[in-house]
Amino acid sequence: MLKNFSTPRGTNDILPDEAVSWQKLESRARRLLELYGYQEIRTPIFEETALFVRSLGQTTDVVQKQMLNLAAEKQDGFSLRPEGTAGVVRSYIEHSIDKKQGLAKFYYIGPMFRGERPQKGRLRQFHHIGVEAIGVSHPFLDAEIIALSVHLLTDFGLSGFKLKINSLGSSKDKEALSAILRKQLKAKLSQLCDDCQGRFERNVFRILDCKKENCKAVVAKLDRTDAHLSPESKAYFSQVQEALNSLNISFEISPFLARGLDYYTHTVFEISHEGLGSQDALGAGGRYDNLVKDLGGPEAGAMGFAMGVERILLIQPAEGKPDNLKTHVFIVTMGEKAYQQGFLLLNKLRQEDVSSEMSYTPGSIKSQMRLADKSQAPFVLILGEDELRENSAALKDMRSGAQEKIPFSQIIGVIKNKI
Ligand code: HAM
Repeated sequence: MLKNFSTPRGTNDILPDEAVSWQKLESRARRLLELYGYQEIRTPIFEETALFVRSLGQTTDVVQKQMLNLAAEKQDGFSLRPEGTAGVVRSYIEHSIDKKQGLAKFYYIGPMFRGERPQKGRLRQFHHIGVEAIGVSHPFLDAEIIALSVHLLTDFGLSGFKLKINSLGSSKDKEALSAILRKQLKAKLSQLCDDCQGRFERNVFRILDCKKENCKAVVAKLDRTDAHLSPESKAYFSQVQEALNSLNISFEISPFLARGLDYYTHTVFEISHEGLGSQDALGAGGRYDNLVKDLGGPEAGAMGFAMGVERILLIQPAEGKPDNLKTHVFIVTMGEKAYQQGFLLLNKLRQEDVSSEMSYTPGSIKSQMRLADKSQAPFVLILGEDELRENSAALKDMRSGAQEKIPFSQIIGVIKNKI
């Protein structure tokens, strides 16, 4: 028995019917992102593993458990990208973009890879629509980026999502927060899972992201505080909130929102939707003011976000889903000569931007009309012996049933006028 192949676990084929929704979403996203001044950047799908380790953090789940290494390149240490920020920052530094512009605004749309246990909304290959604004730290920019993510989701037809924000503060504030968390968690260590007991030593923030019920219950009972924030960080966060209010963006402050990656500082945010079930984050992001410098670049404040395309499509309302591009004309032919003539006409129509189809194995006129019906083309062009003799074709309007004879020389013009 021959083996049947299927998609690798946690990956999906995007079949033509679904691809139309993807294209529509992507083109709406591009339009809006460009409206906000972002330009597309395309970085490789794999990068040096060390780039991800240095950017996301050695003790994060993504680095520890989910990196997909390239076997053939193992000695060189390459991994499929689990996210886009690290590659964009690498590119920003490599091409000295800071020397060309004060603020660089990038967007990207593409696949990301994480070796996770697949479940609804959690895949091994998934897609991000993301932005990175590098070169400036200003509360208005934070608010604008958060507002942009909300604008994108609304533009995709989504509603009922929730925006949570928090501030981790500067690196120094983060150290203070780490100490506060460790102090509070010390007495509860035995209630945490094995992983989190390890995280307590190595990186206490990651306990806040743990999805295990016991750990979530412990985290929920922690005293919520902003005592770690310096007066400057507090002022910065207040200004972000004021700016969001002025833009009429509703949000909730979530004091222990830390996000699963180590590079964040100051503002972090997450947008969730109940309709997604346990993997409820539609998108997330935040400021990462030290990453550019940590990777060997200049001092450059930065902020960005990424949204999961599959999760957006999971809850996008049906009316937001577009139809496939319709065939405008279906050509029906009778006899070999008409078939040859039809084939030339098909080519001509397409060159004139008219989407057209015909049967490549034309059978009876009845079977070809059935195909024409199925294609939902509003017009059928019929080429039979009579028509050929008169150098014409019959054009049938499938909606009204009306049929007219049109000379060959006028076919393209007449059809273009009607569609
Ligand atoms: P992230 O929170 O890891 O952030 O991913 C962003 C979004 O990607 C999530 O909210 C979710 O919608 C989607 N996502 C993540 N993992 C999966 C998965 N396994 N299957 C399906 N969807 C998934 C980042 O990646 C940061 N780079 C965002 C960022 C950009 N921060 C600053 N700039």
